[in-house]
Amino acid sequence: MTEKIIEAANYIKSRGVSTPQVGIILGTGLGNHFAEKIENAIEIEYKSIPHFPLSTVEFHKGKLISGSIGGKQVLAMHGRFHYYEGYSAEQITLPVRVMKALGVECLLISNAAGNMNMNWHKGELMLIDDHINLQPDNPLRGPNIDSQGPRFPDMSQPYDKNLNNRLKSIAKAKNIKLNEGVYVCVMGPNLETRAEYRFLRQIGADAVGMSTVPEVIVANHISLPCCAISVLTDDCDPDNLKPANIEEIIAIAGKAEVALTDLYVDLIRSL
Ligand code: HPA
Repeated sequence: MTEKIIEAANYIKSRGVSTPQVGIILGTGLGNHFAEKIENAIEIEYKSIPHFPLSTVEFHKGKLISGSIGGKQVLAMHGRFHYYEGYSAEQITLPVRVMKALGVECLLISNAAGNMNMNWHKGELMLIDDHINLQPDNPLRGPNIDSQGPRFPDMSQPYDKNLNNRLKSIAKAKNIKLNEGVYVCVMGPNLETRAEYRFLRQIGADAVGMSTVPEVIVANHISLPCCAISVLTDDCDPDNLKPANIEEIIAIAGKAEVALTDLYVDLIRSL
């Protein structure tokens, strides 16, 4: 794996990316608005990068965008990889290790998630405070590479307190409603049944999605401080469940992306 990381990082450097400070992962239906904020952008398609998987989901762009925001060098993944696409958890998290090898000092993640907290509404944002991994794979399964991180990484504080506190105060100052809660990561690609939503609520989750947790596990493995915000795209009330509408989910993600971009751009400026 170490050679794969080095080869991918060297290729990205050869395309003109030098020492990014902030890594960003843009989730489903998110990223078009954010990408516009990146100045002097260089784009690198995933398919040209050695060892990178390819995005197979049509609304996920498959490219890295490097450039600057508020004077900081950023490297954004426009489109991410999911376990349900058929890749292993180790494969989908390779880009996180590559970002760290390139010099990234923190990782800002976004995703689209189903809302299971009936005090909240679709279209709002949730800062992830903690998570539950229900995917049947772990990116750290297999021999541990000690130069990357420990065999048994601590997960008592998987999301960086300093980044989360900064996001909460930025949201307050900008009057953006930022809920805070627990994200549960499932395998997908099907959405959940009413009984599954009931179960997921009972085990303590506020939002459900199919991503983010593998990347956060790896970020913790390699001591890369991270934070993550879910865009709550649909209400998942088991007692009043409407058929999921993927077009609506993407449309709501697109609208909520404006507030998400605001938060992340200000966070980047404050670092
Ligand atoms: N489940 C339910 N609703 C969702 C999901 C999910 O995984 N992702 C976005 N909305």
